[in-house]
Amino acid sequence: MITFFLNGQEVSEHNIQPDMTVLRYLRTRQSLTGTKEGCGSGDCGACSVLAGEMHNGEWHYRAINSCITFLAQIDGKSLITVEALANGSELHPAQQAMVDKHGSQCGFCTPGIIMSLTALFENTPSDKTFTLHEIYDALSGNLCRCTGYKPIIDAAKSMKSYPGKVKAEIWTPSSTSPSNKGETSNEEGQSWSARTESELKEILAHHPDARIVAGATDLALEVTQMNRRINKLVAINQIDSLKTISEDANYITIGGAASLTDCEKVLEAHFPEFAQLLERFAARQVRNNGTMGGNIANASPIGDAPPVLIALNADIEIAGANGNRWIPLDTFYLDYKKTLLQTGEYIRAIRIPRREACEHLKVYKISKRIEDDISAVLLAIKVKVQGGQITAVRTGFGGMAAIPKAGAAIEAALINQPMTVETFRKAGEKASEDFQPFSDVRATAGYRIQVTQGLLEKAALEILNPESVSRVEQIFTTTLSAKDVVNTYDPQENNNA
Ligand SMILES: Cc1cc2nc3c(=O)[nH]c(=O)nc-3n(C[C@H](O)[C@H](O)[C@H](O)COP(=O)(O)OP(=O)(O)OC[C@H]3O[C@@H](n4cnc5c(N)ncnc54)[C@H](O)[C@@H]3O)c2cc1C
Ligand code: FES
Ligand code: FES
Repeated sequence: MITFFLNGQEVSEHNIQPDMTVLRYLRTRQSLTGTKEGCGSGDCGACSVLAGEMHNGEWHYRAINSCITFLAQIDGKSLITVEALANGSELHPAQQAMVDKHGSQCGFCTPGIIMSLTALFENTPSDKTFTLHEIYDALSGNLCRCTGYKPIIDAAKSMKSYPGKVKAEIWTPSSTSPSNKGETSNEEGQSWSARTESELKEILAHHPDARIVAGATDLALEVTQMNRRINKLVAINQIDSLKTISEDANYITIGGAASLTDCEKVLEAHFPEFAQLLERFAARQVRNNGTMGGNIANASPIGDAPPVLIALNADIEIAGANGNRWIPLDTFYLDYKKTLLQTGEYIRAIRIPRREACEHLKVYKISKRIEDDISAVLLAIKVKVQGGQITAVRTGFGGMAAIPKAGAAIEAALINQPMTVETFRKAGEKASEDFQPFSDVRATAGYRIQVTQGLLEKAALEILNPESVSRVEQIFTTTLSAKDVVNTYDPQENNNA
């Protein structure tokens, strides 16, 4: 039985298919059709709902994409949908502001936008206003095709001028920890919500074919986009020991199931360059559910965190029935989508060495859009510069090979060399020794090599002249232009026509 609160009311479910998404459940089992399905892939935000978790006796709510969240992940949580916001004719401030600022035309995106704005409103202390950056961040995962964003942003800006929370009972349901085992089953299969690591190990020992799910922001797409079925699924997002983030004198340690949103704060403090990358990692709803562990385990050649973690010399802790072991992340990837993880094993934690004196980190994501887009190339480089010499260097690249990996020849060309632009330019010449990238819709092979060389020079310029870097500049100079992309449209053919 899984138990959760839906708009303040406790609900228990047992007889349910394992890969049932929250969106489908809401619309077909609960007739809550206010939550819309647009893309079914986490890109449009029409399906946004709020998911609350209890911390230190208080519920904390975040917007998530219900289309790519499995019901098993909701066990123990409090779910709020658009239907529950208004109190009779008294609208929630997010709703009233959207009405008054004319933030809706066809209305399809509106429930999702309302939920994102509600999350922003409810998570901001009443005496604080929102910055424009916070508004953009809150809305970064919501598309509107017809109204245009200005009225929506105007609505966001004005929310604070409306009376505060309405219908408080939906936000603070009384009981918190469901006592039953978090399990569902029907003729199609089983799902579990593991609450401790020993429970997880036991489930995996008995069901080695069960798919682990953390945020589901990759896994759920197998169901919604590829039409595959998942018959056994074990959710790990309720296991506190996998969500812990800690620091000691040597390391920052991130639990395997800590959400990307939860990672932002610690990364901002220690590696702001990495935190800035996370701002461009999908959008808020995806980061609220998606995890660093999932990004690593998914083993995508274009995953954003692994190249940075490789450049930072991160280790990961792998746990299973036979015990735990730490391994350097750069040994984890064997081949395309193949890793060292054995059946029954999971990523327990990620450990990043603290920054040393004289160490510089540079991270560049090249993609066609600033937000909510996949990398064509990701370059991360950490260099230690002492007395004008490069005394240590580590790189990580995404989009350049079948796996995220370091550039050995590039590193060899940099180590023990003078810290100059010329050194980095020469190192860039080694890019095609390290990588033979392929061409696809995101970028050509030639472009990938060329941009790597350009980014290495840019890194040198910025290390030598740190004042030259601004966040805006970094964002705008790392967006692809159309001509860099493989073009299936033939201009010659067009000329002849
Ligand atoms: C709209 C959208 C935009 C996106 N944009 C980006 C982007 O900009 N950059 C990027 O890198 N990614 C992006 N992604 C992909 C995805 O969000 C990330 O890879 C995310 O970090 C996956 O984490 P998760 O917890 O959701 O993984 P899940 O989907 O839960 O799991 C992914 C895989 O990892 C396994 N797994 C998960 N956790 C563990 C664990 N602890 N131990 C062992 N195995 C585990 C699962 O079994 C599964 O095979 C995007 C996805 C969407 C839907
Ligand atoms: S329906 Fe588009 S993000 Fe869920
Ligand atoms: S109001 Fe039509 S898509 Fe936004």
